[in-house]
Amino acid sequence: MIALLPGGLEMAYDEAGSGIPLLLVHGWPHDRTLWTGQLGGLPTYARVIAPDLRGFGGSTVRGPYSIDQHADDLAAFLKSLGLASVVVCGLSMGGYIAFSLLRRHRALIRALVLADTRATADTDETRANRMRMIGVIEREGMEVLAARQLQSSLAPATLDRQPQLVETVRRMMASTPPEGAIAALRAMAERPDSTSLLGTIHVPTLAVGGADDTITPPDVIRGLAAAIPGSRAEILEQGGHLCPLERPAAFNHVVSEFLGALLYD
Ligand code: MLT
Repeated sequence: MIALLPGGLEMAYDEAGSGIPLLLVHGWPHDRTLWTGQLGGLPTYARVIAPDLRGFGGSTVRGPYSIDQHADDLAAFLKSLGLASVVVCGLSMGGYIAFSLLRRHRALIRALVLADTRATADTDETRANRMRMIGVIEREGMEVLAARQLQSSLAPATLDRQPQLVETVRRMMASTPPEGAIAALRAMAERPDSTSLLGTIHVPTLAVGGADDTITPPDVIRGLAAAIPGSRAEILEQGGHLCPLERPAAFNHVVSEFLGALLYD
């Protein structure tokens, strides 16, 4: 489906199920197919809504690009669906966007799932690495970028035992529009530190990560939960940075329990 947003932005999205709205925000360089396991596995618990961010998947590839712009796009998207409050689940870059939603559109957030993400801003080393990745995309294209990114995104168990899934992820990454991928690298490098925001989060929050995630390791996930009042962490065995896709049943289990508890909140 396509939502037409102010400024002519077309946002492609999938949705399934009914009940409490659950907005799934993908990371980099991903698209809404990251959430295939949740679109298939969570509709009995929620109205699952998975958009492609500006510059990714089937959505319009056009700036301005920033983490705040992605948050504003999502706020406009939710308004177009007539939704005033949702559970926001953001993975990695999607988590950075969730922090921006907290800063700019807090009333929209009924509860939060922070998946494989961090609150801290980039280090100088990370920023330099992003600039190198921009060079790779410009010189060699998304196929080469995808091949490099794959190894760090998936757990050893996934790389060893799920060749079809590895190929699906590779294709998702390789098909990301280069303009969107480059713009998002710059946007992530410029994002602010959100650490001071954590103590101000008073909606129910679940932090989830993969035990074998090397980009946002379990200690980062536990640190998020420790800093957010009333939050807890779930670490999924044999999950990597893309644990919702790698371990869909385990991910859906912890998220459906979390959603169930919201009914009594
Ligand atoms: C992601 O999965 O969105 C990226 O790993 C985020 C990042 O590069 O910081």
